[in-house]
Amino acid sequence: MTEPSATFLLFGATGDLARRMIFPSLYNLLSDGLLPDDFLIVASGRSEMDDAAFRKEVDDALRQFLAADRYDADVAARFGAMIGYQPVDAGNADQFAKLAQRIDGRLERGLSVYLSTPPSLFAPTAQGLADAGLITPHTRIAMEKPIGKDLASSKVVNDGIGALFAESQIFRVDHYLGKETVQNLLALRFGNVMFEPLWNTTAIDHVQITVGETVGLEGRVSYYDGVGALRDMVQNHILQILSIIAMEPPARMDPTAVRDEKVKVLRSLRPMTDETVKTHSVRGQYTPGAVSGQIVTGYADELGQPSDTETFVALKAYIDNWRWQGVPFYLRTGKRMPARQSEIVIQFKPVRHSIFGRDGHGTGLEPNTLVIRLQPEEYIRLAIMSKRPGLERQVKLDEVTLDVSLTAAFAGQRRRIAYERLILDLLAGDQTLFVRRDEVEAQWTWIDSIIDGWKEANVKPAAYSSGNWGPSSAIALIERDGASWHD
Ligand code: BG6
Repeated sequence: MTEPSATFLLFGATGDLARRMIFPSLYNLLSDGLLPDDFLIVASGRSEMDDAAFRKEVDDALRQFLAADRYDADVAARFGAMIGYQPVDAGNADQFAKLAQRIDGRLERGLSVYLSTPPSLFAPTAQGLADAGLITPHTRIAMEKPIGKDLASSKVVNDGIGALFAESQIFRVDHYLGKETVQNLLALRFGNVMFEPLWNTTAIDHVQITVGETVGLEGRVSYYDGVGALRDMVQNHILQILSIIAMEPPARMDPTAVRDEKVKVLRSLRPMTDETVKTHSVRGQYTPGAVSGQIVTGYADELGQPSDTETFVALKAYIDNWRWQGVPFYLRTGKRMPARQSEIVIQFKPVRHSIFGRDGHGTGLEPNTLVIRLQPEEYIRLAIMSKRPGLERQVKLDEVTLDVSLTAAFAGQRRRIAYERLILDLLAGDQTLFVRRDEVEAQWTWIDSIIDGWKEANVKPAAYSSGNWGPSSAIALIERDGASWHD
């Protein structure tokens, strides 16, 4: 399956993700000359609409969501001409037959199907495709999260799709893997000689992964309530980042080698219990407050009723393997945080022996810190010790930073939408940046242990005012260990 697919079939084409991400990404690929001239996009949704009306909707979305300098009327016209719209209700065989007519004669040249629908429609849609004869060895299928809400339900989803497609045809999307900065973690770790020898329990004290968002749940409460931050962000994005940070070096950059190493990490996560959740996890829910100078309402007000769903979670995780023995991984994510800020902090241990004063006291000696900022800015910053200039008898040390601003180093390079990379890889059949079934299941196994622990220990979300880094117990979670969050 090395030929790029000639046809892209999108379910959920009238949805928010399609408008904000998928069509702008496809447009960018076309404008960069990365789609074949006779590429066909078949869009489907439940609404009745003809091609012209739908093309108009896509054009509106492009104008709204593309970066201001990207919209070009000629490219947009060529793009529109590639798109056809076919109304389809899962379970409606006539409509699937019409869909198949639109793709008639093109199946041999590869079909990439993208499911941007609620997961309850994944299996019925796949069945509709099968009945309409659209599944061949040249068909691939991509699906968006959530894949289930726990291990058992994720198996049902995966079994449903797996009954009709081989694993090599299934592309599970985690859009964080499409981000340049996340892929750059591989380059940082395995394209440089100086980090890998220190990347273990001998030199690293702890790791922090933070994904902070300023937004609340505007308009998404119906999906989010009952799901919460643990399932919405940790189960997928944060655990994927963790697996890349913690994995053994894969032998090569190919889908099997990379995913084999990631899944080993995910399987080594120490499960939580009803005892450990009390000290190793914090749940929070935002209440009214101010974010970036704006007064905002609380989660319960947005929902219109009280709820036990967490909008913030902080965890202390352990990876039980040789490399990471005893190294805590502090993970946190939340809505209505003070800043949109995603970063990884590698906190190194102190030097083994200080030659500066007694244990370095009074000299300013501090352990090294490596900060990898993923968004909104992209940089890598290493704090190292340096002698403060001066004639004092006792050497004084100051922290200085080695700064690599990726935005500056690669100025002039367009910042791409994560979905551009993922759609291009889907079309080309490269699964490296997609999540394999065993990864999803290992992720859920660990998440289920936390959810079960919360249930048994009756752990409820603690309130935090919007515009804070979660409840105060989140600070205590890390400070008990003598460390602190890198805010
Ligand atoms: C999604 C979550 O997967 O990721 C959202 O469902 C979250 O709740 C989003 O806001 C964050 O993505 P990004 O790319 O803006 O960091």
